[in-house]
Amino acid sequence: MVASGLENSRLFEETQRRLQKIQALHNIDVAIAGSMDIKVILNIALDEIIRQLNVDAVDVFLYSPYNQSLEYTVQQGFRSRLFNVMPIKLGEGIVGRVALERRSIKVLNLAEEESWIRKDLILEEGFVSYYGVPLIAKGQLLGVLEVFKRSPIEEDEEWEEYLETLAGQIAIAPDNARLLESLVSANRELSRAYDKTLEGWAYALDLRDKETEGHSQRVTELTLRIAKKMGVRDEDLIHIRRGALLHDMGKIGIPDNILLKPDKLSEEEWEIMKKHPVYAYQMLSRIEYLRPALDIPYCHHEKWDGSGYPRGLKGEEIPLAARIFAVADVFDALTSDRPYRKAWTKESAIEYIKGEAGKHFDPRVVDAFLKVIEEKE
Ligand code: C2E
Ligand code: SIN
Ligand code: SIN
Ligand code: FE
Ligand code: FE
Repeated sequence: MVASGLENSRLFEETQRRLQKIQALHNIDVAIAGSMDIKVILNIALDEIIRQLNVDAVDVFLYSPYNQSLEYTVQQGFRSRLFNVMPIKLGEGIVGRVALERRSIKVLNLAEEESWIRKDLILEEGFVSYYGVPLIAKGQLLGVLEVFKRSPIEEDEEWEEYLETLAGQIAIAPDNARLLESLVSANRELSRAYDKTLEGWAYALDLRDKETEGHSQRVTELTLRIAKKMGVRDEDLIHIRRGALLHDMGKIGIPDNILLKPDKLSEEEWEIMKKHPVYAYQMLSRIEYLRPALDIPYCHHEKWDGSGYPRGLKGEEIPLAARIFAVADVFDALTSDRPYRKAWTKESAIEYIKGEAGKHFDPRVVDAFLKVIEEKE
């Protein structure tokens, strides 16, 4: 349904892909937190790697310091289920070199690689390209992650970076004792990384929308102030923050000639524009940790009197977060230049919002908004 309507499908797909990658990191994180069994964790990670990196097979060797060799642990995507390998000495073959030299090695054409010793992987499995990454945690070699493809790897910087990120995440799995210790701080870092990523998207969206710089940040700040003023609980604020940052994510699905039109929209164009909350819902609902943040992207154009879109919700049917956000968004939109009109003054924007209490906006939210604006002066 989405795809047919999208001219910006490339951008849309890229965003989907990024969202899925972040979800993959999160899945592995959950596996690490919830499981003590190294093989369970690794299998979840390998599954994500095959899906996200578009490769055919992947395996992990763990390093055994006891006999200084690499032992085959888990695999996915190999044709031969019985496929097995003897322990490999450090420095032996490519995988041994990845471990010994502690650096990633890629081979774009395995058939031409002389130091490749596992000929069966080329003959029976038909692999063409290869990427081996050392698993290192706190300076200790833990093993090697290998990915294989039966066609050339079309890797780019983002692909490599993501593989290295996954390897880094897997590397914290093998040592459970250390794992428990570091879990709290790792979670904090992950959470920070998520939120930095969201801010990055919000910034990118503003750029495309030619919105005045910082629209998303500003509108997020104002939304949070109103929410606090209305007594919204702290644990809900994090989701409101994410939802506000991503409120117009769905505009990625709106073609430039509509989004950037320096004039009024035609009826047809308006029909397309009105889909942006639904696009946002479709994109973001796949991401578990963003699901509680969906109210704003999905419902920010609903109106108190039921005349909004996409569902025509009325009054308290509209989630509170979206009712709050609507006031902040319209205030910031009106006081900013748009391709189709100049900015209004702050005073006329405030007057407008007062006049829309009970029509576009929840009157309680308008009251809280007016108090916040007064305090700011
Ligand atoms: P936006 O520019 O971010 O505007 C967000 C909301 O602020 C609008 O939602 C509307 O409720 C309010 N708003 C913005 N500008 C005005 C204004 O000049 N007068 C009034 N009374 N309210 C205003 P809405 O209407 O659902 O529009 C959603 C999005 O559709 C807008 O986001 C903008 O991207 C686009 N859009 C709306 N009207 C036009 C238009 O005439 N031309 C173009 N090119 N785009 C438009
Ligand atoms: C990516 O999208 O490249 C990886 C995801 C992330 O950096 O969190
Ligand atoms: C999570 O548990 O989803 C990661 C932390 C966060 O919500 O950012
Ligand atoms: Fe919008
Ligand atoms: Fe906006």
